[in-house]
Amino acid sequence: MGLLIATSKGISWFRKGHPWIFRNDLAKIQDAAPGSIVSLEDKNGKFLAQGFYSEHSKIAFRLVSRNQEPIRYNFWKDRVERAFRYRQAVVERTNAYRLIYGESDGIPSLIIDRYADNFVLQTLSQATENLLDMFVKTLLELFRPLSIILRNDLSVRELEGLPQEKKMIMGKCPLKVQVFEGKIQYRVDLWIGQKTGAYLDQRENRSLSARFLRGRVLDAFCYHGLFALHAAGKATQVIGVDSSQEAIEQASENALLNGLANVEFRKENVFDFLKAEVDSGQNYDGIILDPPAFAKSKENISAAARGYKELNLRAIRLLNPGGILITSSCSYNLSETKFWEVLKECAKDSGTMLRIIERRGQSADHPILLSFPESYYLKCLFLEKFH
Ligand SMILES: C[S@@+](CC[C@H](N)C(=O)[O-])C[C@H]1O[C@@H](n2cnc3c(N)ncnc32)[C@H](O)[C@@H]1O
Repeated sequence: MGLLIATSKGISWFRKGHPWIFRNDLAKIQDAAPGSIVSLEDKNGKFLAQGFYSEHSKIAFRLVSRNQEPIRYNFWKDRVERAFRYRQAVVERTNAYRLIYGESDGIPSLIIDRYADNFVLQTLSQATENLLDMFVKTLLELFRPLSIILRNDLSVRELEGLPQEKKMIMGKCPLKVQVFEGKIQYRVDLWIGQKTGAYLDQRENRSLSARFLRGRVLDAFCYHGLFALHAAGKATQVIGVDSSQEAIEQASENALLNGLANVEFRKENVFDFLKAEVDSGQNYDGIILDPPAFAKSKENISAAARGYKELNLRAIRLLNPGGILITSSCSYNLSETKFWEVLKECAKDSGTMLRIIERRGQSADHPILLSFPESYYLKCLFLEKFH
């Protein structure tokens, strides 16, 4: 087995609970094959942990176990079973959820999303790439899947020296899989959809949002229209806006599927749409803002904050008194504190008081590890334009 020896800085960082060691914090790398399981030791030869070694990435070590135990098929099967038991406890009224969320489920750099009996995998490091057959075998044994798809079309894989690719691993996936989220049915294309097909991280926020939304509602950055469809039950009119033609077509199909006639979807740039709505004196009783991550790195936090400010300020101006703003940021690099600051500035600039009705994050099937801030990325506030 390969061996990594960490510097004292690396060890103190690791002892605080963070599950990664960066290449700069390694004093020695010995016989470590790319993507293998290696031991981590301090300079006195004291065993610290076992984990994944990556040859190219800045993240050289990812924690798998703090014990000197065999890491073979049964170990991984047990981790998947544990992850499933946890989902059985926390996931309600849906058959589409995240089964494995990387480090948070003790399987670093692996994502598995479940859509009914279809499973979508993403292997985001050399090690999970090497272990792919093992995870496929586990899924076959535990779930008898209809299909297993590999959605490795992510640029982050390049940091690991891995190619971007998509593969049908087993079975026959229907062109579109139909799943449900509470009362809403929706169809998702696991081959071409964004992420693994759907934004499962917003599921609980979408379901809860229906409790607060009434009257005229705008779902901005709507993707397949799920916030809009949840809102449509009690709203009089819902407009969904997204710049992706595929998203708008799927959203419209989903509205038909649910027999909802008070929802319409438009292909437009949200920034332009909001400006035009403000300029023409439109008003809404509820607005959902769920943009893509604007802060892709620490370097562009300021630009990202300006983007969030522009959107939220326009949305607040469009809201009637008592109206509800459901606003999200999925930028890990923009902290919750910074997001709140942006919203406070929007309240000040628009001369309104915003009252928090719900302070939320990603759904429980994307659990957050306390000592791993990278696992917490989605911030979502339900705000009332109080006065
Ligand atoms: C985070 S996703 C929205 C997820 C959605 N709210 C849901 O719950 O499924 C962001 C969406 O914004 C869209 N998008 C990105 N930039 C846009 C822009 N400038 N104007 C409109 N839509 C945009 C993407 O196509 C994507 O569907």
